[in-house]
Amino acid sequence: MGQLAAGIAHEVNNPLGVVIMFAHLLLEDLPADDKRREDLQTIVENADRCKKIVSGLLHFARQNKVTPALTDVCELVDEVARLTIVPANVTLEVEHGAPEQAAEVDRDQIAQVLTNLISNALAAMPDGGRLTLRTDGDADSVRIAVADTGVGIPEENRASIFTPFFTTKPVGKGTGLGLAVTYGIVKMHRGQIEVASNANPAKRPTGTTFTVNLPRKSQKG
Ligand SMILES: Nc1ncnc2c1ncn2[C@@H]1O[C@H](COP(=O)(O)OP(=O)(O)OP(=O)(O)O)[C@@H](O)[C@H]1O
Ligand SMILES: [Mg+2]
Repeated sequence: MGQLAAGIAHEVNNPLGVVIMFAHLLLEDLPADDKRREDLQTIVENADRCKKIVSGLLHFARQNKVTPALTDVCELVDEVARLTIVPANVTLEVEHGAPEQAAEVDRDQIAQVLTNLISNALAAMPDGGRLTLRTDGDADSVRIAVADTGVGIPEENRASIFTPFFTTKPVGKGTGLGLAVTYGIVKMHRGQIEVASNANPAKRPTGTTFTVNLPRKSQKG
């Protein structure tokens, strides 16, 4: 699956780049009041969207190498939190069980995991809420939790969320690769990812918590 995806994505990438470039050139040549501008704009937007999907696929297929380095996971979480654009109606909280959690992980990939989980959490809270990033650990592993007070994941979707291209977002919004990539990264670190969620407000307040467990020692160590 990965190789096929990478192959196709790579082949599609170049002609797509040509389409985008020539559409942009045409757009530049058209006078500002030309009626065809709108159509051309639509072409550019949708070709750009294809490009995004393709690069998502390429990224997904390339996720096969971990470069571990001793990392303070607390600091990494702080850093990602600092770079997150938090909507005005969302409160972001960071809670560290201990001041430091050292683990041999691929810093960029774990940052990507966090970014994906945070982006999903924010998308699940269109009317605002609370986003909590929590770190903890024991002798062997570190734990990072991303919790939201959003709409929750309905029971019937739970089994599908890690599948590539599964998305409940409207066409043009999600590619459904975020959690698939996330799962791949966690597995390559020989870690686990778990989800607890409630989508039924009659039971208790809705929300979702993803918990990532990562061994402190990488395979090489
Ligand atoms: N925190 C969450 N709360 C509610 N639903 C979630 C949450 N995280 C994931 N989901 C559900 O899982 C689906 C798959 O998530 P995933 O990140 O793989 O793809 P996506 O967010 O739809 O698209 P992409 O991440 O590629 O932009 C989402 O469409 C959504 O239905
Ligand atoms: Mg996502």
